[in-house]
Amino acid sequence: MNKLYFFGALALLVLGCKEKQTEVETAQEPEHYSEPYRPQFHFSPAANWMNDPNGMVYHDGVYHLFYQYYPDDTVWGPMHWGHAVSKDLVHWEHKPIALYPDEHGLIFSGSAVVDKQNTSGFATNGETPLVAIFTYHNMEGEKAGRTDFQTQGIAYSLDNGETWTKYEGNPVIGNDGIKDFRDPKVTYHEESKKWILTLVAGDHAQFYASPNLKDWTLMGEFGKEYGAHGGVWECPDLFPLQVEGETGSKWVLLISINPGAPNGGSGTQYFIGEFDGKTFTTDQKEPKWVDYGTDNYAGVTYNNEPNGDRIFIGWMSNWDYARHTPTEKWRSSMTVPRKFALKKIGSDYFLAGFPIDGIDDLVSSDLSNGWEIDPNETATQTIEGLDQSVTQVKTASKDFSITFQNAMGEALALTMDAESNQFSVDRRKSGKVDFQEEFGNKIHVAPTDMLQGETYDIKILMDQSSVEIFINGGLLAMTEQIFPNEPYNSLTVQNNDPKANVMIESIKKMESIW
Ligand code: FRU
Repeated sequence: MNKLYFFGALALLVLGCKEKQTEVETAQEPEHYSEPYRPQFHFSPAANWMNDPNGMVYHDGVYHLFYQYYPDDTVWGPMHWGHAVSKDLVHWEHKPIALYPDEHGLIFSGSAVVDKQNTSGFATNGETPLVAIFTYHNMEGEKAGRTDFQTQGIAYSLDNGETWTKYEGNPVIGNDGIKDFRDPKVTYHEESKKWILTLVAGDHAQFYASPNLKDWTLMGEFGKEYGAHGGVWECPDLFPLQVEGETGSKWVLLISINPGAPNGGSGTQYFIGEFDGKTFTTDQKEPKWVDYGTDNYAGVTYNNEPNGDRIFIGWMSNWDYARHTPTEKWRSSMTVPRKFALKKIGSDYFLAGFPIDGIDDLVSSDLSNGWEIDPNETATQTIEGLDQSVTQVKTASKDFSITFQNAMGEALALTMDAESNQFSVDRRKSGKVDFQEEFGNKIHVAPTDMLQGETYDIKILMDQSSVEIFINGGLLAMTEQIFPNEPYNSLTVQNNDPKANVMIESIKKMESIW
């Protein structure tokens, strides 16, 4: 079921959500961020509901993270943009809500840019404007059965994101009757010297160009005949990325889709191709997936990243069960930031997303010495502290499983299966799973054919309520929420390969960022 129909009585609440002054619910620092399941090295709001990351932009020493936020409850409601800042993308400081609903509607997902040349004219005293571009979702219009209730608006900040002013000429892109018309991602296109805005229009993406962020012209469309279409397209992103080991770049188009992901519900597909300032083209008909887990959605990348890196953050949840997860004070968190690389394998291109180096700075003491599991052997170690850990595995084994478990018999099993040539995550008995049917009803599988080489290098990041698995530099990633009733404290490795060992190289504690 689409969450957009969940408004019901919430409609009335919008009226009470007019621009308030800025010291608000989110600004208070959390006591210790120590509630059950509170992520310790992932971003989560101090309280209440969060979904997509928005407006990810770097400016003047500050990484901004805005996010879809409902400040009055732990379920989705009238959307605002929450705000947090970071110097390193690892430690975060909460800021007051940046954007409130207004007469045009709720503030849905979007992006932000640094308008270095003041093309918008918003700066009058030499400041550098930050400009946010977002979707207005007009509740009254939706309730009245109209189809033009999503439009695009902009707002600007002249003090590096501290305060925001909506543009008086909003909306800047109107709607001719496309019901799902949203999530603008804007970047500057050097070649055409124009701003390019990518948004989704139901089953395809549209590309607009502008000289000033205010006047937009539709340039092209992509996607009706491409990729997965099990649900509505959402949250696009479009960027060039250098092909690893080559001098040339390709363009990457990310498209989130809900439902229709490989393991159910929400997921993010990508296309590799070309962009000429007007439209995106590719020969890739079939979707590729940023992540095969069920909990990495609506992710996009940073604008203006100072090192020229492409850094991605996704929402670590799934619309199938996002409102039902067993946390009380807040709901949901973000993935760790991941740096994208583009790899050519054979004649094909694949995106690899791997935790940024800064995440390594959180790695501290050993929880276990490394150990080796011989061919056809099974071994178990008791290890305290797995609930906040990083495990490094290296192996040429093509058939093994790694199972995290606790004394209650709850278990999370990660399996590489030689016969089916698949990697899988089984969280069916991982802890609390029955808060919603889809959460624990099946094993989640991923193909392994994009993994090159004879060995697997596996990094497993486990936090209080999530696991992120990266194989061979993130060519295969799986991100999953988990809610064990007590921390896992033992690890069993079953090696079914007749020839190769499995090396658990290290298991280390991850420090808290809060
Ligand atoms: C994706 C999404 C976006 C929309 C936002 C509303 O999760 O549905 O398409 O802008 O969430 O909160």
